[in-house]
Amino acid sequence: MKLLSRKAMCNTHGQDSSYFLGWQEYENNPFDEVQNRNGIIQMGLAENQLSFDLLESWLANNPDVAGFKRDGNSIFRELALFQDYHGLPSFKKALVEFMAEIRGNRVTFDPSRIVLTAGATSANETLMFCLAEAGEAFLLPTPYYPGFDRDLKWRTGAEIVPIHCTSSNGFQITASALEEAYQEAEKRNLRVKGVLVTNPSNPLGTTMTRNELNLLIKFITAKNIHLISDEIYSGTVFKHSPRFVSVMEVLKDRDYDKTEVWNRVHIVYSLSKDLGLPGFRVGAIYSNDDMVVAAATKMSSFGLVSSQTQYLLSALLSDKKFTKNYISENQKRLGKRQRMLVMGLQKAGISWLESNNAGLFCWVDMRHLLHSNTFEEEMELWKKIVYDVGLNISPGSSCHCSEPGWFRVCFANMSEATLNLAMQRLTDFVAEYSTANGHKRLHHSSKNSKKTSLTLPDKWLIRRLNWIRKIQKWLSRHLNWIEKIQNGC
Ligand SMILES: Cc1ncc(COP(=O)(O)O)c(C=O)c1O
Repeated sequence: MKLLSRKAMCNTHGQDSSYFLGWQEYENNPFDEVQNRNGIIQMGLAENQLSFDLLESWLANNPDVAGFKRDGNSIFRELALFQDYHGLPSFKKALVEFMAEIRGNRVTFDPSRIVLTAGATSANETLMFCLAEAGEAFLLPTPYYPGFDRDLKWRTGAEIVPIHCTSSNGFQITASALEEAYQEAEKRNLRVKGVLVTNPSNPLGTTMTRNELNLLIKFITAKNIHLISDEIYSGTVFKHSPRFVSVMEVLKDRDYDKTEVWNRVHIVYSLSKDLGLPGFRVGAIYSNDDMVVAAATKMSSFGLVSSQTQYLLSALLSDKKFTKNYISENQKRLGKRQRMLVMGLQKAGISWLESNNAGLFCWVDMRHLLHSNTFEEEMELWKKIVYDVGLNISPGSSCHCSEPGWFRVCFANMSEATLNLAMQRLTDFVAEYSTANGHKRLHHSSKNSKKTSLTLPDKWLIRRLNWIRKIQKWLSRHLNWIEKIQNGC
C-alpha cells in the first residue's frame, strides 16, 4: 500500500531542477567572507539585500509599531485575535497606494479588489485554482521563473504550454510565437485559459514594451482568455532606465476599462522583491472581476498574511515620505549593482541581454563557452561553474529557455566585495578556458590554476562575436517593427 498520495509524490513540483539543486549545493558549501572564502557564492537567489538599512532605520524611528502599540497602548490582543481573511483595511489601503506609487500614480487601485496572500507563490496558485480546471492550460513566454512549475501546475493540475521566445529579438514576445503556442496546446488537446507573463521578467530582467503589451491584449481579446501579469518586480527597476509600464496602464490608456477584457486581466504582486521581504510572506492578487475577487478571497484562508505583519507594514507603507525615498534610493542602488556585474562580465569577455533594466539579476550569454549547442553541454558548463569556479548561477534550461548557453546571474543578495570576488573567479575561469583549449572542452579542475589573461586571438574572436550579435539585434529590431506594422499595433 502506498503511504503517500500521488500529489505528494509526483514530480511536477520541479524540486529536482538544476535551479533548486544549485541551492542545495550552495547549502553544502556556502561562501562566507571570513569563515569559508573558498565556498560557493550564491548567485542563484533573487533576493534584494541592498536597502535593509533604510527599513531598519525606519523601524528604529518607529519603535511603537514593532512593539505592537498604537498611540502608546498595546494592541497585542487585538492582533493576536484578528483572523479575518479580508485582511486589515488599513493595510490593503496602504498596499494599493504603494502599488500606485511604484507605477508613478498613472494607475490607481481599489482596495476592495485586492486579495492578500502568503507571497506571490500563493497568489499565482490561487489564481490558477480560480481560472483553470485540472488539464487546462496557461501559455507562458520562455524563459520563465522555475518556480512556476510548482506554483501553477503541481497542486492545481493545470498545464503550462511554452511561448518560445528567442535571443534573435531579445526574447520579446511576438504574435507568431503566441499563435504557435496556442496551436501547440490545441494539438495536445489542452484548452487554453490564459497567458501568464512576468513584467518585469524573471529571468530576463527586462520590462515589457508597450508593443508586447498591446500584442498580449489583442491576443487575449481575440481568443477570449485571461491574462495574468505577475508584477512582483514592478518597483525593482534601475534608476535612469526605461520605466516599467503595467498592463493596467495600457488598458486604461486604450479605454479597455469599458470593455469585458478588463475583467479578464489580473495582477499578482508581492513585497518579496521591491521591499526585500520574502520572509514576511506578503503577496496579493488584484482583479477587476468581482467573481475572481470573491473566489480568491475564500481561498486565501489557505495562505493568509499574519496580522502583526499587516499591522507593521500598514504603518511603514503609509509613511509616504519613507516610501518615496525608499523606492528612489533602492532603484539607484540596484542600478549601481547591475553596473558592477556587467562591468565584471565585460572584463571576462561575456555578454548579457543588454535590455536588462530591472530585476535582481542579469540574463547572461555563455553560448561561446559551450563545446556544442546542446543542453547537455549547458549542464556540463553549469557543473563546472558551480563546483570548480564556486558560483551558483541558474542555467537557462531550468527556466525552460529554448537556447542552450544562457544563465541567470543574481547580484543583489551579497556584498560588493563578494560580487567583486565572484567576478574575479569568473574572469579567471574564462581566461583559463581560452588559453587551455579555445572552444574545446574545459579542463577538469580549475581550482589550482594560475591566473591568466585572454590571448589576442581570443579577444579578436570575442570582439567579432559581439559585433555579429549587434547586427543580429539590429536585424531583429527591424523584423519586429515590420511585424508590428503587419499586426496593426
Ligand atoms: C516572477 C516571480 N513570481 C513569484 C515569485 C514568488 O515570490 P514570493 O516570495 O512572493 O512568493 C517569484 C520569486 O522569485 C518570482 O520571481
